[in-house]
Amino acid sequence: MSKQFDVLVIGGGPGGYVAAIRAAQLGFSAACCESNPYADPKGEPRLGGTCLNVGCIPSKALLHTSHLFEEANHSFEAQGIKVGKATIDVPVMKGRKDTVVTQLTSGIKGLFKKNKVTLLNGHGSFVGKEGDLWKVKVGAEEVLAKQVIIATGSKARHLPGVAVDQKIVMDNEGALNQESVPKKLAIIGAGVIGLEMGSVWRRVGAEVTVLEALPDFLGAADQDVAKEALKLFTKQGLDIHCGVKIGEIKTSKKGVSIAYETKDGKAEKLEADRLIVSIGRVPNTDGLNAEAVGLKLTERGMVEVDGHCQTNLPGVWAVGDVVRGPMLAHKAMEEAVMVAELMAGQAGHCNFDTIPFVIYTSPEIAWVGKTEQQLKAEGIAYKAGKIPFLANGRALGMGDPSGFVKMLACAQTDRILGVHIIGANASELISEAVVAMEFGGASEDLARICHAHPTLSEAVHEAALACDKRPLHF
Ligand code: FAD
Ligand code: NAI
Repeated sequence: MSKQFDVLVIGGGPGGYVAAIRAAQLGFSAACCESNPYADPKGEPRLGGTCLNVGCIPSKALLHTSHLFEEANHSFEAQGIKVGKATIDVPVMKGRKDTVVTQLTSGIKGLFKKNKVTLLNGHGSFVGKEGDLWKVKVGAEEVLAKQVIIATGSKARHLPGVAVDQKIVMDNEGALNQESVPKKLAIIGAGVIGLEMGSVWRRVGAEVTVLEALPDFLGAADQDVAKEALKLFTKQGLDIHCGVKIGEIKTSKKGVSIAYETKDGKAEKLEADRLIVSIGRVPNTDGLNAEAVGLKLTERGMVEVDGHCQTNLPGVWAVGDVVRGPMLAHKAMEEAVMVAELMAGQAGHCNFDTIPFVIYTSPEIAWVGKTEQQLKAEGIAYKAGKIPFLANGRALGMGDPSGFVKMLACAQTDRILGVHIIGANASELISEAVVAMEFGGASEDLARICHAHPTLSEAVHEAALACDKRPLHF
């Protein structure tokens, strides 16, 4: 007889594993099937999806090590610390990253046990209906479920005709697993992965050139932040070319040759030892057998959902990278909790206006809400408060005073509309802005809250004061 569950989740990434855990916490019998290729030593699938295996977590582990390396070589001496010239042992750096990944992915198996979620080993695809139940093939067996949550995530988009061997031509997987520092590294796509991976490998000694199709650098960020970031990253040694048109790419065992046209129409050629292709991601819907059950997909192959992640099929939901919206782990987890709570008859909700965005470069970049250019385009009257970290004692003490905090608030109501940070620990600082915006806070609310001294968060406080033209320390 087929196994039967209240809820079957397809995919064990941040969207899937969180949906399964929350559903189980709410009293549903829940199962999660996973078929990823990152099998653990026992041959079982590893949970955590892209995020834990080949995304957020391994990239941040490498960013941390490479940051320490850069500090040792470029900042220690100015503070009186003499350690000589630091060298990098790439296999050790990679080994530590792998240990962190294993610790976290096996931790999720522990969470499944604790919450009584059944882990099914295998690829999930729709078969049809049996009465009121959905029938899904998982590996060789068929499973029945009252409700199904699709959380199959995404995979790297590749360039047509350019084979990815993960050695010379890499996507995120190869980029995170290099065994040595390339002398010359080419990156196509100056998005989040291009900048984070470019930073890692530049810090440990690679000459990095980034080729970006769009004329504007970091078009989604506030233009002030993007301008500052381009200046700082260029100073660090990232060679970034925007507005290029990629031509023929030739690969050999020795490396790669990329023909491209510059912004001004000049034909150029870039020779490199390795290439990272980071030009966005595509949803994993091809193996779902969507046609068999009439599951509606968008033109771009995503599962079509409404604001509550409900698909066109009753009892079938979809969350995370496989649906519209930013491809971010915290967005996937938020949608997962919302869906489980809606299934339980609760008022699940996901506020898409307060999802924070973070780029973990140095300095970090983080924002929430509208950019200044969006407010202008929408004709919304706003006021702005901008405070450089140079005016912040803690940032100076840390030897990391680059960047600024910029707050945008409604000219009429003072409600905070957007906060944009480039600077040390921006990833942590942005939470204060997210909380304030979730509560519908005004810049005056933050201005009247006592912030510990000396902290980087005082720059957020000062930016709020600056919205009312009364900063105290700038
Ligand atoms: P995924 O994590 O992709 O998980 C989907 C899972 O489903 C996979 O394990 C897959 O094997 C499995 N699956 C697919 N099809 C089936 C099937 N038919 N049957 C069974 N299993 C299936 N986001 C952030 O918020 N912060 C970051 O710092 C960050 N850094 C990143 C760095 C990199 C290099 C990359 C590539 C991504 C990063 N992301 C980051 C994005 C983040 O990883 C994704 O947004 C997140 O993993 C999406 O979660 P998900 O559950 O929707 O999908
Ligand atoms: P991205 O969408 O961030 O950037 C892709 C870049 O490639 C864009 O700037 C685009 O204009 C450019 N591009 C596309 N086609 C091109 C071409 N043919 N030639 C040259 N440039 C081209 O995508 P990326 O960096 O691949 O990352 C994928 C997703 O993973 C991100 O959108 C993000 O959602 C997630 N991610 C999040 C991170 C974070 O939150 N810190 C870190 C890394 C990834």
